Amino acid sequence: MDGLATVSSRAHFQIGPVPVYGDLILAPMSGFSDLPYRSLCRRFGSALSYTEFVSAKEILHGASSHWKTALTFLPWERPVVIQIFDGDESRLVEASHIVSALGPDVIDVNMGCSVHKIACRGAGAALLKQPAKIARIFKRLTEVAAVPISGKIRLGWDTKSRNYLDILHALQESGAAMVAVHARTSDQGYSGQADWDAIARIVEEARIPVIGNGDVQSVADADEMKHRTGCTAVMIGRGAIGNPWVFQRRERSSVPLQEKIRVIRHHFQLMEDYYGQPQATTFMRKHLAKYFNEHPGVRDFRPRLVRIESKEELNELLEMIGSEVSQGT
Ligand SMILES: Cc1cc2nc3c(=O)[nH]c(=O)nc-3n(C[C@H](O)[C@H](O)[C@H](O)COP(=O)(O)O)c2cc1C
Repeated sequence: MDGLATVSSRAHFQIGPVPVYGDLILAPMSGFSDLPYRSLCRRFGSALSYTEFVSAKEILHGASSHWKTALTFLPWERPVVIQIFDGDESRLVEASHIVSALGPDVIDVNMGCSVHKIACRGAGAALLKQPAKIARIFKRLTEVAAVPISGKIRLGWDTKSRNYLDILHALQESGAAMVAVHARTSDQGYSGQADWDAIARIVEEARIPVIGNGDVQSVADADEMKHRTGCTAVMIGRGAIGNPWVFQRRERSSVPLQEKIRVIRHHFQLMEDYYGQPQATTFMRKHLAKYFNEHPGVRDFRPRLVRIESKEELNELLEMIGSEVSQGT
């Protein structure tokens, strides 16, 4: 496989006692940062592996086959951050005991999800309305857990309550070992621009590592975010879909078409090994079009890429793309 990440011997930062070698991190993304894509990005240089989030309620009461699949990781993916969410303190604590048995390096509490069905239950970003509750949750979790506890937040619930500094203090005074900040309020969803100045304010007051997140599409953006905010590391979500190269510090536009095709084949193989068929094919569709963002010549193939029915069809399409679309189109 091309381009395995080289690891420097000096840790870039630490989450409690856990050393992290690198400053670019694939964001947790339900439906995208599954084991196949996460491990691919980790190989390319993403410094941490965050699982997709799972609710504490599901961990306590759901079919273990489902949540254990979401929280499975490979030994070499370490450091691994298992992310959980819930609005109920006791359930979060109980769930942390159970996921600890899976051996994560860090357990993270999601406080950034603005999706209605999660926030209306008091979970995800709804917790941002209650810094005192966040403090209680983190106190309890850090007392009982054997691994560091981190949090992923937004800037507040809405534009009238951008209480991110209160949240930071609630977290760090309750033992949190790291905070990742998506620099929007919950009511913004994904609209407007991420407010990187707010990340800079958090960095000024933080005694724990701060991971900046929001609207980083490229290596140049990641460098710019670090420069403007002083954040410890940069987390990349949507800009990393179909773009594992960002973790090698390469812009996707500079990656030759044939290399993209090789990596897509490898990604598909990882999906097949993990999910089997037909899920591998179905789940791969949403990744495919993104891989070719900088190749307008691939536009005509998009409708077929996002509807592939089999490995054979994908291989056939990739052959056609490889021979018909010359590099730089
Ligand atoms: C499809 C999708 C799924 C997501 N799932 C999660 C999740 O499971 N846990 C989480 O903390 N954030 C989740 N997020 C939010 C991202 O981690 C990230 O904070 C957000 O996309 C902003 O970063 P970006 O501008 O780099 O995309 C998700 C985002 C997207 C687009």
